[in-house]
Amino acid sequence: MNPEKNVPLQPYNTFGIAAKAHVLVRVQGEDDLRAVLADPQLSTLPRQVLGGGSNIVLTGDVKALVLKMEVPGMRLAHETDKHWIIEAGAGVGWHDLVAWTLDQGCPGLENMALIPGTVGASPVQNIGAYGVELQDRFESLDAMDLFTGELFSLNAAQCGFSYRDSVFKHASGRPDGLGLAGRAVILRVRFALPKRWKPELGYADLERKMSETGIHSPDARQIFDWVCAIRRAKLPDPQVIGNAGSFFKNPTVSPEQCADIIAREPKVVHYHLDDGRIKLAAGWLIDACGWKGKTVGHAGVYEKQALVLVNRGGRENPCTGGEVMTLAKAIQTSVYERFGIRLEPEPVVI
Ligand code: EPU
Repeated sequence: MNPEKNVPLQPYNTFGIAAKAHVLVRVQGEDDLRAVLADPQLSTLPRQVLGGGSNIVLTGDVKALVLKMEVPGMRLAHETDKHWIIEAGAGVGWHDLVAWTLDQGCPGLENMALIPGTVGASPVQNIGAYGVELQDRFESLDAMDLFTGELFSLNAAQCGFSYRDSVFKHASGRPDGLGLAGRAVILRVRFALPKRWKPELGYADLERKMSETGIHSPDARQIFDWVCAIRRAKLPDPQVIGNAGSFFKNPTVSPEQCADIIAREPKVVHYHLDDGRIKLAAGWLIDACGWKGKTVGHAGVYEKQALVLVNRGGRENPCTGGEVMTLAKAIQTSVYERFGIRLEPEPVVI
């Protein structure tokens, strides 16, 4: 373990916001975490876990000890009658894992191609895209309890997954015992990839690709290529334009609330959920309020997808976290005034 001081975080957050970590430790395995816990000074600091930095907004220098997760490794851990069990280190890039599993002949993650971030961050917000969520392919994970130094494993039920949510997003100390934010550090994740693979094609963008190409029984590689093409067409590449993916969650409303909105706004994009509630497309709501292309300082709303906030100043004159949050609040206010819906941000504000 080698604590580094005053480390620039601009390369480590996909928005490209300029900020520094007062102290940063690179974590390649549990021994680095144990060394932190045994260190008289470091062990007293509050901690901030950093994965791929693709879901954070930095509003200033980080005074907490930054644990930069760099646990490597991808392997076939074992197999069951029905699944390949693939294990990956928390520091592995998510897209690298998706591509590697396909190369190994183990499909199942292809709908989630090109999602930015790391394997270790993927369970935290139960990432998902094009009809597949992490929880559909998750087997278990290993983590360390920073309060006790113990290693433990969790299965899917114990992770409490729901839409862009898990126990890792909730503060520890809840009476129900759930809530591991600030307490658990994910070291390795295992995925159960089905040996009898079936394509997941029930998403409008993929259906469009099928009719455009005339390919109605695509293999996993084909779906991977389609998802990459769809994402590249409407989501900005963080290497080119800094961003943190979707900035707000898609809100859910009751059928009554939805009927009320449809009466006023017949075109509102909405999806019926299994539990009877209705999910609204936040991007559509923001777009309808005229936000595409608008800016606050160097923070802006992406022209092709209103749900994505971007850094217009590049690496040289990056937006600040404050500008991003001012823009986000203005969007929330205007969506609330027009639709009566409170949008909830997806990224973690630090
Ligand atoms: N829409 C507009 N205007 C916009 C943006 C969207 O009218 O500016 C409409 C679209 O035409 C579409 C609907 O809103 O009818 C939904 O848009 P889209 O299909 O792009 O998906 P989304 O709901 O905006 C979600 C995830 C994405 C994921 C895609 C594909 C959330 C918050 N976002 O976006 O995830 O890639 O579906 O599955 O659930 C992320 O979380 O960072 C992310 C990119």
